[in-house]
Amino acid sequence: MSERTFVIIKPDAVRRGLVGAVLSRYETKGLRIVTLEQRRIDADLADRHYAEHVEQPWYPPLREFITSGPLVALVLEGDAAIDAVRGLNGATDGRRATPGSIRGDYSLSNRENLVHASDSPESSAREIGLWFPGLS
Ligand code: CDP
Ligand code: MG
Repeated sequence: MSERTFVIIKPDAVRRGLVGAVLSRYETKGLRIVTLEQRRIDADLADRHYAEHVEQPWYPPLREFITSGPLVALVLEGDAAIDAVRGLNGATDGRRATPGSIRGDYSLSNRENLVHASDSPESSAREIGLWFPGLS
């Protein structure tokens, strides 16, 4: 069944010139870009996006990182898109992510791991509403 998922190409990927390489993974998989925007976010949006993590000891440096420069926010659509994109992204810790995944190929960090993607239909709906409130 076709579904939508919310993705961030994080500031490390933008700084490293990997936006095209990352987008290419999603497009060649067969996912469609519904909307895409480069922007820089403030701490308030960071806290709302990462609401489930704000009490973690590692959240302050994550907030610092995610607000440190431009990122690319997008919505992807396709069959089972939520799980498909999580699979393409790979495990959270780039040092341990499987080679062939985006994080496994391009990241050696548990924080600067290039990408975010929604982990469930509920988080997808919440995140798309938060980042792209105008999207029907
Ligand atoms: O992004 P994902 O859903 O795979 O992982 P998460 O456990 O929901 O954590 C969200 C993000 O926090 C990660 O993608 C990392 O960028 C960051 N993180 C961190 O900075 N330090 C940790 N110990 C764990 C996660
Ligand atoms: Mg998560």
